[in-house]
Amino acid sequence: MTISIIGTGYVGLVTGACFAEAGHTVICVDCDASKVATLQKGGVPIYEPGLEELLVRNTASGRLRFTTSTEEGVANSQVIFIAVPTPSLADGGVDLSFIEGVAREIAGCLTGYRIVVDKSTVPVKTAEKVAETIKRYSKGKADFDVVSNPEFLREGFAVEDLQHPDRVVIGVSSERPVAAMREIYAPFQAPIIVTDTNSAELIKHASNSFLALKISYANALSIVCEATGANVQEVVRGMGMDERIGNRFLNAGLGFGGSCFPKDLSAFIRISEELGYDFRLLKEVQHINSDQMARFVRKLASILWVLKYKRIGVLGLAFKQNTDDVRMSPAIELCQRLIQQGATLRVYDPQAMEKAKALLPENDKTTYVAHMDDVPAGCDALVIATEWPQFTKLDLVRAREEMRTPIILDGRNLLERPSVESHGFLYHGVGR
Ligand code: UDX
Repeated sequence: MTISIIGTGYVGLVTGACFAEAGHTVICVDCDASKVATLQKGGVPIYEPGLEELLVRNTASGRLRFTTSTEEGVANSQVIFIAVPTPSLADGGVDLSFIEGVAREIAGCLTGYRIVVDKSTVPVKTAEKVAETIKRYSKGKADFDVVSNPEFLREGFAVEDLQHPDRVVIGVSSERPVAAMREIYAPFQAPIIVTDTNSAELIKHASNSFLALKISYANALSIVCEATGANVQEVVRGMGMDERIGNRFLNAGLGFGGSCFPKDLSAFIRISEELGYDFRLLKEVQHINSDQMARFVRKLASILWVLKYKRIGVLGLAFKQNTDDVRMSPAIELCQRLIQQGATLRVYDPQAMEKAKALLPENDKTTYVAHMDDVPAGCDALVIATEWPQFTKLDLVRAREEMRTPIILDGRNLLERPSVESHGFLYHGVGR
């Protein structure tokens, strides 16, 4: 199949690379000329395990190429994927101007029948609007179908998720594009759900909101566990063995962040409001999430008595492990709150330090430290803010020697309490 992907951001680039690896011919289009030039020279603008190899192999084989020309992409492909950003508006709604702009551009260059696939996360009814826009701007001449095919990639595992999806959702308004969509996904051997476009769009928002709900549920439980001396990890372990519940996405901690969950949750609440439904359950999910961070800061403040002039070591800046992404990162929010309260920070992240500097400038308040084991030196407390597995290898003997006071607050329940305490630390996790 010949495919073009408009928007070479996170989703578009990983999708393009995986489609090419699966044997399709892919043209990735982006309006950012410098990004396209970087990709043409073999550069990779994001950190994602496994991506670089795919880009190298498939550009070398000629199955994957990059351009700034939408016209070139549309002319040379049977299927056009839209993977442009859908950022939040101030009211929590979704800015669809990039999608609308691409729809108009596509309308201007359609020559024969094409399938236009929306991969970006969008409100329900967007596929209908995209179809209307293409029809209107091509003055009714274009022959096309619009398909909704939401992505479910997790950052840090995007290549794996794309190559081994739990399911592929294909939303259509007619049978005509179904065979081509099945052909694109055939190499991935995943269950395929063919449904209407509105349901497909809702599956995405409903899934992410439900996952966020699971996390907030675990965080709410962590409060009850702390108040009773129970261990939230044991509680969710017991719950998760019930297949109806499942054991994933039940880790209590500093709450969820990133470029998807907070945005999608606000969008889904707003969309429901516009449709006349007050989705209070999801508002509470948001509330629990922000409250979790406030509680954690209060806990640290109460342990240290006064935060002003305290030196805090922070391990982790990315919004989760395996990524350099710091957008809406709970770790960055934590750092900002600690600085506001007068603390100074020594921070480290295995991948995200460069990107973090834009949100958390390097100055007399924040020192970026090159090695994990150098962070604790002179600190009054050490906080684990991101679930990078390597933090479990922290040299506790050295940390105990070099810290001003040996206190660890584990915002991701990553360390084993007995081991940390046996090294002479005061240890606090979340809900255990
Ligand atoms: C998410 C969805 O998982 C993915 O399907 C969708 O396409 C995009 O949004 P991503 O944003 O990459 O993916 O992150 P994810 O791995 O889902 O984690 C989101 C946040 O939740 C992180 O901040 C993580 O630390 C937090 N989290 C996750 C928890 O606090 N507890 C958990 O149990 C799981």
